Amino acid sequence: MTYAVRYYTKTGNTKRLAEAMAKVLGVEARPISEPVTETVDYLFLGNSYYAFDIDPEVKQFVASLDPAKIGKIVNFGSAAMLNSTYKKVKAAADKVGIAMDEKEFHCKGEFKGIHKGRPNADDVQAAAEVAKKYLA
Ligand SMILES: Cc1cc2nc3c(=O)[nH]c(=O)nc-3n(C[C@H](O)[C@H](O)[C@H](O)COP(=O)(O)O)c2cc1C
Repeated sequence: MTYAVRYYTKTGNTKRLAEAMAKVLGVEARPISEPVTETVDYLFLGNSYYAFDIDPEVKQFVASLDPAKIGKIVNFGSAAMLNSTYKKVKAAADKVGIAMDEKEFHCKGEFKGIHKGRPNADDVQAAAEVAKKYLA
């Protein structure tokens, strides 16, 4: 199996999750400013909610993906109030014809004093455990 990990972050939370997952998968976690040029079975895509939506840069990144090169997108993130961004990312992925894996990872993320310290060590470990399930 082949993997790539990309993340979008404003305050560093998603990057921490991405690095833990990438370590398990044996790849580097990269920001979405770095295009995915290789063919991968799974693209792990870290993103979050900002003002009730995923960032436009994340939508642009998904739109820029080559469906011939990406098997499935694995969504992960740490929104503070809302839950998973899965539906938002799926809407973008549907437009370009890339499937979303049914599994994903989501935990709470610190925002303005809410959920202080999260993702915490347990969250990071849980993210790594999810990534382990994809090793083959
Ligand atoms: C400007 C801004 C707006 C946000 N809006 C929302 C929101 O609408 N709903 C939500 O659940 N979390 C919201 N959050 C919280 C983030 O999704 C959460 O802190 C996440 O862990 C941030 O990840 P990051 O550090 O990788 O950017 C917001 C955070 C920021 C900085």
